Amino acid sequence: MSTLKTVSSWQQEPKGGPGCDATDLGFARALLAGLTKEHKSVPSRFFYDKRGSELFEEITELPEYYLTRTETAILTENAEAIRKQTPAGSLLVEFGSGSSTKTEILLETLDRLAGYVAIDISPAALDEASQRLRKRFPELPIYTVVGNFSSPMRLPEQFLSVPKLGFFPGSTIGNLERDEAVSLLSNMREILGPGSRLIVGADLKKDREILQRAYDDSEGVTAQFNLNLLARANRELGTDFDLASFKHQAAYNEAEGRMESYLVSTKDQSVRILGQEINFSAGERMHTENSHKYEIEEFHKLCCSAGWAIQNVCTDDDRLFSVHVLQNTA
Ligand SMILES: C[S@@+](CC[C@H](N)C(=O)[O-])C[C@H]1O[C@@H](n2cnc3c(N)ncnc32)[C@H](O)[C@@H]1O
Repeated sequence: MSTLKTVSSWQQEPKGGPGCDATDLGFARALLAGLTKEHKSVPSRFFYDKRGSELFEEITELPEYYLTRTETAILTENAEAIRKQTPAGSLLVEFGSGSSTKTEILLETLDRLAGYVAIDISPAALDEASQRLRKRFPELPIYTVVGNFSSPMRLPEQFLSVPKLGFFPGSTIGNLERDEAVSLLSNMREILGPGSRLIVGADLKKDREILQRAYDDSEGVTAQFNLNLLARANRELGTDFDLASFKHQAAYNEAEGRMESYLVSTKDQSVRILGQEINFSAGERMHTENSHKYEIEEFHKLCCSAGWAIQNVCTDDDRLFSVHVLQNTA
């Protein structure tokens, strides 16, 4: 971290102390833990290896996947207002940055940023995005952090007194349970510090047909994305999942206000993971992702529970998606 004009990485605080939970387990242990539960599940953050990140990018371009183009339009329309509210020389910190495509809207608009910090669990996505951004914004100091945004993290010393703008687009917040979302927003408040602001994209509750199409597209890209979890286990852990014997399922759970994704075993079968045999019966599901949908007021309550004050909210005319500007008034 000696010079600002390089792409750098730094370590998160060490994990594994008291309070270490299942979210800190490696892929193999998390997979085994999830598949030995009564209701099988795999944490959704394991979607994002290199292939998973590529498939996610394909999803964002699908006609049915309204989320990306709607959020992009909201950000583009409001970029100038965001610029006016952001002090020159701020540090932009993005959580779950992926391809950093929407980030370019802010990077083009904001004045003389002190730097851009991209945090993501996918090293491949970070590499690709930082190389592209370095070419496009050669003067911008770019930092990449490979890690779990739910873990405690410290920004480098030189940014302690710099104004911070957090960015958390993509409705990634929807992948967390409500209590986890509050913890994550609190963690972001800690990382960004007093006086900071955070821009968060959250998907809104809507007609279930629109949701169903977005999470089970006609070209089967979302199905491939879901099945890539098993392909990744075969690649990285030497498991023997037969991908042809599992199928993608997406369902709206109205009571919980969320889309749920599953992989369903189409026959009785067993798979070995870390030497342990895991049995699946025909029709048995493993849960792979939740995507919570919010009403604006409901989302604001959640943000306030995490200690953020609401500064602004923008939606599209069809009220499909919402972008919230939060302020850490502490
Ligand atoms: C839904 S995608 C959104 C990507 C991008 N921000 C966008 O708006 O298009 C979620 C992103 O968050 C990353 N991610 C998921 N869980 C994570 C975690 N626990 N810690 C850090 N990054 C995570 C994934 O690798 C992926 O790039």
